[in-house]
Amino acid sequence: MQEFDENSITDAVVARVANARDDRVRAVSEALVRHLHAFVREIEPSEAEWEAGIRFLTETGQMCSATRQEFILLSDTLGVSMLVDAINHRFPGAATQTTVFGPFYVEPPRFANGGHIEGRLTGRPMYVGGSVADAAGAPIAGATVDVWHSDDEGFYDLQKLADDPDYSGRGRFETDAEGRFHLWTIRPVAYPIPDDGPVGKMLAAQGRHPFRPEHIHFMITAPGYRKLVTHIFADGDEYLDSDVVFGVKASLIRTFDRHDGGEAPDGAPMAGEWFSLVHDFKLAPLDGPEGR
Ligand code: BEZ
Ligand code: FE
Repeated sequence: MQEFDENSITDAVVARVANARDDRVRAVSEALVRHLHAFVREIEPSEAEWEAGIRFLTETGQMCSATRQEFILLSDTLGVSMLVDAINHRFPGAATQTTVFGPFYVEPPRFANGGHIEGRLTGRPMYVGGSVADAAGAPIAGATVDVWHSDDEGFYDLQKLADDPDYSGRGRFETDAEGRFHLWTIRPVAYPIPDDGPVGKMLAAQGRHPFRPEHIHFMITAPGYRKLVTHIFADGDEYLDSDVVFGVKASLIRTFDRHDGGEAPDGAPMAGEWFSLVHDFKLAPLDGPEGR
């Protein structure tokens, strides 16, 4: 029989996965074992610390439900989600840059252009519009544009209205013949990610705040183009430099323009304070360097 010590155990476990039938399973298993063992060698945990680590992961799983994905929060706050994003979008070229998907997406209800998506969210009126084009600027008609955002207290409908299918602050639009879309909603705010679970405790222990800068999520799809998952962030937000999930990119920061009365871009007469964001998105081709 073979006996393993502190030094030989890693090679022994790597050898044990060598017969995996699938090459990718073998490569991932080997790397997992090597890196996990290196981590343990570096930190030299006490048995009590190792138990605490197991308890942390157990509680992370137990926190998950249909409306709460604590493992996504863990991946996001450790920068893993943005690392995966960066690896998968190495060649943005002229295409709009991507950022983290986050845990608050559900397939939204459809609206005609100009529709109001705020539902039961309250806040200051905001016009959101723009266009979808290819990397060379040619408009893409019939693209699907999903939009979602928080309310003016920093909560998504799923957090406040969890049992109610009447979604608010999210909608699906289709670009017109010129590749354009527009909608009405309310202006969101910066918000803390859900921090009442294990990930919140981890952030506190690491001396970190839980905030994301104000943003609006977009997911844009069109046949022949790579799916674009991104946000537009509000310029001037105090958390742009310290987003808890590392999702901010300079090219995704825009001014959310403030207006007082007047006429909206779609001709609507306005009274009082309102905001607008107009942004032109560009999609990468499916068969380009990014289209793996
Ligand atoms: C979000 O922007 O919705 C989000 C992203 C990552 C973690 C939590 C929330
Ligand atoms: Fe968000």
